[in-house]
Amino acid sequence: MLSGLWYATGIGRRAGLGVSSGFRFVLLTEPGSPTPRSEIERELHEASMSEHETLPLSDFLEYPQPEMQARAEAFYGEIRRRHSLRDFSDRPVPRGIIETCIRAAGTAPSGANHQPWHFAAIGDPAVKALVREKAEAEERAFYGGKAGAEWLEALAPLGTDAEKPFLETAPWLIAIFAQRRGGPEAGQDLKNYYVSESVGIATGFLICALHHAGLATLTHTPKPMGFLNEICGRPESERPFVLLVTGYPAAGATIPRHATTKKPLEEIASFF
Ligand SMILES: Cc1cc2nc3c(=O)[nH]c(=O)nc-3n(C[C@H](O)[C@H](O)[C@H](O)COP(=O)(O)O)c2cc1C
Repeated sequence: MLSGLWYATGIGRRAGLGVSSGFRFVLLTEPGSPTPRSEIERELHEASMSEHETLPLSDFLEYPQPEMQARAEAFYGEIRRRHSLRDFSDRPVPRGIIETCIRAAGTAPSGANHQPWHFAAIGDPAVKALVREKAEAEERAFYGGKAGAEWLEALAPLGTDAEKPFLETAPWLIAIFAQRRGGPEAGQDLKNYYVSESVGIATGFLICALHHAGLATLTHTPKPMGFLNEICGRPESERPFVLLVTGYPAAGATIPRHATTKKPLEEIASFF
């Protein structure tokens, strides 16, 4: 209950404090008011939230608990077969599969639902060759010492180096860009919120969707990757986030043993 003085005027305008669709709240607190102004503001904010448009939740599916456990186990079984791949086949992958997986990524949660991401899917061999050329130039500097000894030591068990033939071999390279500005609708120029968190989650969705569809990926981050803006025609305000190499594994492809060791539950989780 509020104990400051406040009233609502019937002005349906979006301005000032604690605005709902039909009212403008005006705060009239006095010094020493028993309810702090911040608390009144929060309550007004909650009051304004109750005015938002809603839909019934119609697509939630509930499962009996044994089935939930089985589904959780099945998903774990499927996702633990995902591995970062660096040895791709040139076997084509239909564009429709990539499109659907990007649609799945686009359903990810994001700060204020601004969806601050762009996915540039590169299938053109000439463009892939250009990406490889630019990426390898950066990677040569990186592996040549720019990375520093500690980072190179951490990468050693993966066996990676500056050579990135998969950037041409794999049928698709999906460059993911993070947008500082945008908004929930196309063409808007508003501040975006929690951009890295949002784009990271969407990238995770995309990796899962591609894996679920039966494709392998590599999360690749040639450093720096500003060259992707020019190649993909993206504005300077967008930050290249990750280059997701996508396709089928080459015959006899291998993965580094080091990458298959995952921390046990006891180490990555705590329950209270
Ligand atoms: C943000 C991020 C950046 C990565 N960048 C690279 C990269 O540039 N080159 C590479 O070969 N692997 C890269 N990886 C892949 C990791 O090496 C790989 O995820 C890790 O070794 C675990 O292997 P797994 O994905 O098979 O579980 C990156 C992974 C992440 C999450």
